[in-house]
Amino acid sequence: MKKSITAVLLTAALAGGATLSTDVQAQAAFSDYVKTQHHFAHKHKDDADVLVLLASETEDGAIHLPEMWDPQVRSIVQSALALEDFTGKHGQQVELLALPGFYAKRLWVVGTGTAMTRADAEKLGAQVAAQVGEAADTVVVHAKGFSDTQVAAMAHGMDLRNYRFDRYKSEPAERPDYTVHWHSDQSDAAAQAYADTQPLAHGVFVARDIINLPGSDGYPKAIAELAQTAVSNYDIKATVYTPEQVKEMGMGALYGVSQGSQHKSHLLVVEYQGGGNEAPIALVGKGNTFDTGGYNLKTSGSSIVRMQTDKAGGAAVLGAVMALAGKDAELNVAGVVPLSHNLISGSATLPGDVLHAADGTRIEVVNTDAEGRLILADGIWYARDRLKARAIADIATLTGSKVRALGTDYAAIFSEHDALISTMKAAGESTGELVWQLPLGPYDGIIDSWLADIQNVGSPGAQAGARLLQHFAKDTPWIHIDMAGNAYGTSASGIHPAGGNGYGVRLLSEWVENYNSASSVSAD
Ligand code: BES
Ligand code: MN
Ligand code: ZN
Repeated sequence: MKKSITAVLLTAALAGGATLSTDVQAQAAFSDYVKTQHHFAHKHKDDADVLVLLASETEDGAIHLPEMWDPQVRSIVQSALALEDFTGKHGQQVELLALPGFYAKRLWVVGTGTAMTRADAEKLGAQVAAQVGEAADTVVVHAKGFSDTQVAAMAHGMDLRNYRFDRYKSEPAERPDYTVHWHSDQSDAAAQAYADTQPLAHGVFVARDIINLPGSDGYPKAIAELAQTAVSNYDIKATVYTPEQVKEMGMGALYGVSQGSQHKSHLLVVEYQGGGNEAPIALVGKGNTFDTGGYNLKTSGSSIVRMQTDKAGGAAVLGAVMALAGKDAELNVAGVVPLSHNLISGSATLPGDVLHAADGTRIEVVNTDAEGRLILADGIWYARDRLKARAIADIATLTGSKVRALGTDYAAIFSEHDALISTMKAAGESTGELVWQLPLGPYDGIIDSWLADIQNVGSPGAQAGARLLQHFAKDTPWIHIDMAGNAYGTSASGIHPAGGNGYGVRLLSEWVENYNSASSVSAD
């Protein structure tokens, strides 16, 4: 009896404007996120609110319309396409409404260009999804002549665009729940290829949820728990180290970043073992759940707002491991996510303090805003020393310097291992999550400290960050991805709705597969 009264009082307090409860949850299944249904069939369905006709670009500009259409409809459509100079260029679109005697209310002729890559196909699907909105219950897509993987990629692109984050809206967002009939001559293969994209989409959705959570709700422990729920239906072992354990294991760099916050550092480790007993490939992601800068406080000019997205690297790592586990990849991968909350108080790390990292290195904290490398230092140590990783890729929203160099479409990669660089570039190209290599050297000695072993800043900024991380990777093949600026957009674009976009989930999951096959070939 007493208990229920307490519960009622608590609920009342929350309703009266207290902050939201802290039980942030991810959805444990793909189908909890997306209500759109995709069907794949040989046979054409004969009614639709929207019919999408995919047309490839032709040299002479002639667009071939389906034979089965009424000659009158064909000639109207041909004239409309000619009027609009439709050539089938990728993304080009012409709409016709209420064609006489035609089975669909709206006809969209959409250009696919000449050779549609996976990224192109996803974008095209997203373009259609963005326009369907609430306009339709039934969409038919004429996709004859396109491969099973192209069809699956278009459906996947629709799903990625249809994600909604409405936790902070007073009205729930409309979840698109139309049905899409894909008219394909390889329908069984397309259905299978589409099913294979679902764990990847789920990984992207969970990553977006994590990125989007504001700093007061998405603090280290909350994110660790959210991750545990997210992977609960996967063959993934999730371990969460508490702040006390982080300290006991000697991870003073990770601990130090959060010591001024009521939300102390945690370490999340997710492991998927699909490849027997071989050493895992490790992904290490920055999970700084909010970045005030610490005593080197950020200002509005240095963009303190949206620093809840400073956990996007960690989110990408979690999503990538989910994607690999969900497709039963035959390899071993581990995700290591150091989680911190870079805040100020009487117990916060001060500029000039020295932190003891788990590998024994003493780091002078010249700038408390260069916190990402501190938590990653111990994350990389864990991957190398505890997991005995055979290769490490770390990913982080690390430096403003990277944003100034490359902007927000490309992420920067740094490495001295050719096999890692080439496989990462290939993964970037095939997923459309672009990367550009920056040099690590000749910046030897740029993080030397007179006081301690090394210091946490140097110039140029992005290279100093990379050099510090390299110190902790030691001899393990290692690549660093600086994804500062890539994590979110304020408006929807392509396969991404506004907000966190899940950059890195696709890149990393593809890379792990690429690198695994490249490195096992040479091991044979
Ligand atoms: N999280 C920031 C980097 C960042 C900047 C991410 C802009 C996304 C957009 C990182 O912790 C940071 O503050 N870096 C500093 C380091 C500097 C103090 C050496 C930077 O780059 O300004
Ligand atoms: Mn910072
Ligand atoms: Zn940061």
